[in-house]
Amino acid sequence: MALAVKRMTELELDGRRLLIREDLNVPIKDGAITSAKRLSAALPTIEYALQHHARVALISHLGRPREGAVDAALSLAPVATMLAELLGRPVPLVTDWLDGIDVQPGHVVLCENVRFLAGETANDDALARRLAALCDIYVMDAFGTAHRAHASTHGVARHAPVACAGPLLIGELEALARALDEPAHPVVAIIGGAKVSTKLAVLGALASKVDELIVGGGIANTLLATAGVEVGRSLQEARMHGFAAKLLAREFGRASVPLPTDVVVAESMDAGVRGTVKPTDAIAKRDMILDIGPDTARAYGERLSRAGTILWNGPVGVFEHPEFSQGTRSIAEAVAASQAFSIAGGGETLAAIEQFGVVDEISYLSTGGGAFLQFLEDKPLPALEILADRA
Ligand code: 3PG
Ligand code: MG
Repeated sequence: MALAVKRMTELELDGRRLLIREDLNVPIKDGAITSAKRLSAALPTIEYALQHHARVALISHLGRPREGAVDAALSLAPVATMLAELLGRPVPLVTDWLDGIDVQPGHVVLCENVRFLAGETANDDALARRLAALCDIYVMDAFGTAHRAHASTHGVARHAPVACAGPLLIGELEALARALDEPAHPVVAIIGGAKVSTKLAVLGALASKVDELIVGGGIANTLLATAGVEVGRSLQEARMHGFAAKLLAREFGRASVPLPTDVVVAESMDAGVRGTVKPTDAIAKRDMILDIGPDTARAYGERLSRAGTILWNGPVGVFEHPEFSQGTRSIAEAVAASQAFSIAGGGETLAAIEQFGVVDEISYLSTGGGAFLQFLEDKPLPALEILADRA
């Protein structure tokens, strides 16, 4: 895709004040970062800017704090610490930064959580102007937050002296273009996750773009129920049956939507519970479907092995639970083994890919979750549109 935006790498950066918006919204458990993928993805951008003697101020959100107040639990302090380790240089965290940031050429600071600022998510114009006043060049590099029109992703780009795209953002868009614009066929999408309702738009859009649409999780359960299969107490959405029927009837596009032929069921997800493999015509009223079965995994694996392009978002079972992880593991391994150009996105999907040790075998790991889905839906990303306006 010839994306008409300014690029950071084509600008003179020496001595310039750069405000780089990254998506450093990483999962944190008990104060520790559980996946550093979004940090490592941002490193090349930061290193490039430093090598070119820019004065680098990084901004990002973390979580969803109540705006206008500081929430210590959502401080970027652990992120600053880990970035410093990854970069091998100090990364001071600046808590009070809206009135000016003091940083020397070739140095970097991290500004505290941008969602502590009142007006951030409302894209307040006064806040956007103050952000813009902090820099000579605003660099949008946060693909994962490009679907948000916030002051730090959108408003600031309107007012900054120069607004451009960073290398990570460009890389994400190029990978997505390769998978969507003129992809190698067959194109196989895997869309898993709990609910049809949250992935309605992407399922509809992909049905007209891909050749095969593999579903898993609660989405597959809803489709099975729509097809008249007894799904017992499985997670499913009865109010989505109308949409699901159209999807199965290929009313949205040519994609075939294969359904699971066997599943792993249990009566609960309690510790120590064992799953039972059952064909989908033998599911009991008390059963809950918690994973795809081995025959289904094999059939999906064959489809993936023939694919030219693979898009993956969402697990096909409760993979955090060892008893119900085998289906998602086999998908991860099949994507890894395939010769296809493969692209995966979303927090849970990346967690699964890390858990099953196939990080290096996936062609491209997107840092986007919601933004990745919105891109697949063909819905404009506001943070990109404003960069195009400023090009
Ligand atoms: C994400 O993790 O999806 C992005 O960082 C955006 O976060 P948000 O959904 O809280 O806007
Ligand atoms: Mg999100």
